[in-house]
Amino acid sequence: MRPGAIVIASSLLVCGAIIGCERDDMWEQPKTAVLGTNEFFDNDQGARMPVKGTVARGADNLQEDDLLYRGMENGKLAERFPFEITENDLNAGHDKYDAFCSPCHAKSGDGMGMIVQRGYKQPFSFHIDRLRNATPGYFYSVLIRGLRPTQLPGVKFEPDDDKVHPAVAHKLSPVERWQIIAYIRALQLSQNATIEDVPMEQRGELDKPKTEGSNGESH
Ligand code: HEC
Repeated sequence: MRPGAIVIASSLLVCGAIIGCERDDMWEQPKTAVLGTNEFFDNDQGARMPVKGTVARGADNLQEDDLLYRGMENGKLAERFPFEITENDLNAGHDKYDAFCSPCHAKSGDGMGMIVQRGYKQPFSFHIDRLRNATPGYFYSVLIRGLRPTQLPGVKFEPDDDKVHPAVAHKLSPVERWQIIAYIRALQLSQNATIEDVPMEQRGELDKPKTEGSNGESH
């Protein structure tokens, strides 16, 4: 071999060695990019699904409590609240009701909210007997399952009834939904109260003339 050829051959070898080294570094490791493809798996999907039934540490997604999460008890719509309702719950429910429900159901619950006045379907008033007698679980069920009668055990509707509820529940936690329902119960009481419901010591207040500055409108 001529000396020139030896130089070329050996420099090719050196280049090869250098390139070889580069190819070997961590750049080339058999990894899967986040949400990238990976032919190793049947569906060519690099990201794996968690094993069925996995509960993330610290996450509240096991949701075993039928009453709290689904408004059901012994396979029926719950007839009670999952926790004792305090004044704080009612206040929180009031806030959430005004924000999430009143645009349609109106602040008073009569179903004539601003969106309805602008042409949206009018819901029943919460102050009709059927809804006054409806269980807390019924209200919860409407929120999470929609108003499809077939999905509501123990609730009879006309067979051709295809009522649906707009999706609002996913913006609320289970506790917030129950707080709202408690507030609706308070609204229902407020529209159907008698003097017997007013504590003795406060009855005198009812007869007092309105104080100056009050325009008599409820808020
Ligand atoms: C975008 C408008 C809208 C919003 C917001 C809304 N609703 Fe409704 N709701 C309706 C309509 C319309 C119906 C009646 C559905 C039907 O009859 O097909 C209804 C029906 C219901 C019913 C069933 C009443 C019955 O006749 O049995 C309940 C309970 C209810 N809503 C609760 C709520 C609560 C609680 C909220 C707030 C978290 C809320 N809704 C927010 C429009 C709304």
